[in-house]
Amino acid sequence: MLKTILVNKNNKIKDTYLNKINLVKTKDIDNNDIYLEEETYNSYLKLRNFLLLKNIEIGISSAYRSITNQIDIYRELKEMYGEEYAKLTVATPGYSEHHTGLAIDINIKVDGKYPQNNKELEQQAKYYENIFKYLKDFGFILRYPKGKEKITGYNYEPWHIRYVGFLPANLIMNNNLTLEEYLINFSGVIALNKKSGPTSRDYVNEISKIFGLKKVGHTGTLDPLAEGVLLITIGKATKIAELLTSTYKEYIAEVIMGIKTDTYDIEGKIIEKANIPENINLSAALNHFQTTYLQQVPIYSAIKVNGKKLYEYARNNEKIELPKKNVTIKKIELLSKSNNKFTFRAIVSKGCYIRSLINDIGLYLNIPMTMSKLTRISQGDIRIEESYTLEDIRNNNFKLLSIEKCLNYPVIILDKDLAFKVSNGVPIKNNFNIKDKVIFQDQNSKLLGIYQVKNNMLVTWKNF
Ligand code: DAL
Ligand code: ZN
Repeated sequence: MLKTILVNKNNKIKDTYLNKINLVKTKDIDNNDIYLEEETYNSYLKLRNFLLLKNIEIGISSAYRSITNQIDIYRELKEMYGEEYAKLTVATPGYSEHHTGLAIDINIKVDGKYPQNNKELEQQAKYYENIFKYLKDFGFILRYPKGKEKITGYNYEPWHIRYVGFLPANLIMNNNLTLEEYLINFSGVIALNKKSGPTSRDYVNEISKIFGLKKVGHTGTLDPLAEGVLLITIGKATKIAELLTSTYKEYIAEVIMGIKTDTYDIEGKIIEKANIPENINLSAALNHFQTTYLQQVPIYSAIKVNGKKLYEYARNNEKIELPKKNVTIKKIELLSKSNNKFTFRAIVSKGCYIRSLINDIGLYLNIPMTMSKLTRISQGDIRIEESYTLEDIRNNNFKLLSIEKCLNYPVIILDKDLAFKVSNGVPIKNNFNIKDKVIFQDQNSKLLGIYQVKNNMLVTWKNF
């Protein structure tokens, strides 16, 4: 379960969450038993110990609440201060994020004692302000900040902190966001530096967890064996994934000569062996492939034919005609050669399989060949030097590329009227002399949509 789960006035806690939550017992400032989600509790202890070193002592006044707890709290406040006040201060039962076990109301000891009532608590605002800057390091955010009441639906609550995990907490607190804004708006592209081993999907799943965001995807799959640039799309950027793959890609590949496998790479089963002749002219052979040609898709690939993936045909030993695609090898050059191995660099168009290219070079030279290593050096303008490991991402040490930056379309800022039309997908006149596609933003540089030319009008193509 993602730690960024949203429970607010419009989002009720789900039973499926309540059934899975792992609660641990602790004590509140009055020594009553209370409960917190396990990771939240451990992070809270770290925060508490850190603050003690700064001579600030915090305790918990409220943590996990069952629906019944919330009913009592709501009733109590309504009786004391009236319904209006209660609504802005306490959530309706079922709609409180205290049900998640991830929210904590903290109290601060002042002059040796914790506040005795709400009035005393409210007077402590200035003490809370001293600790806000430390929250993110422990994965917490200030959940109901000043000035964001319209978005969160609640009055400013300096005492109510919420565990979301390290990276979301940093992104939220550094950018002055609320959890609501983060979940809806956080988007962009990250150039990941993939390592050999896991699948591209494994990385997507991990990154989704790190960000606490469900909408995460990738473009241009890299096989498990391959490493290098894998573009990860987050939030609204998942809508432009297909556009990012249409660019040229640059690879460095290592080839073993004298063997051929069923997958065309070193992870497959050897199906052919041969001695390597002397005096082969590899450079000339590579040069021969610097062209556009019809390439057969490898059978060990996820391309679907008649609704079934090609590798499934291979596994079931079923015969199938392999599809062919036109690919362009824009540049290819030999980098090194030793005994039974060589490496080359190639810039290729969308849809080109380097494994197949190697197999084709082998067929051309009549030497079985198999790919032993593959590194993607770049995808379009994005190069491996500007890519980030999973560790970098986890530690908030990465650059997020905007959708605008990743696409080579003109960006136009619209006035209020046109911005309203575009955000509703209404066609507009092409007064901007656009030839193909255009990115529209509002006056605050917020991305509205991508439009394309059609019959002299601009019509919606992607809405965000
Ligand atoms: N005080 C917060 C809004 C709650 O009751 O969940
Ligand atoms: Zn609270």
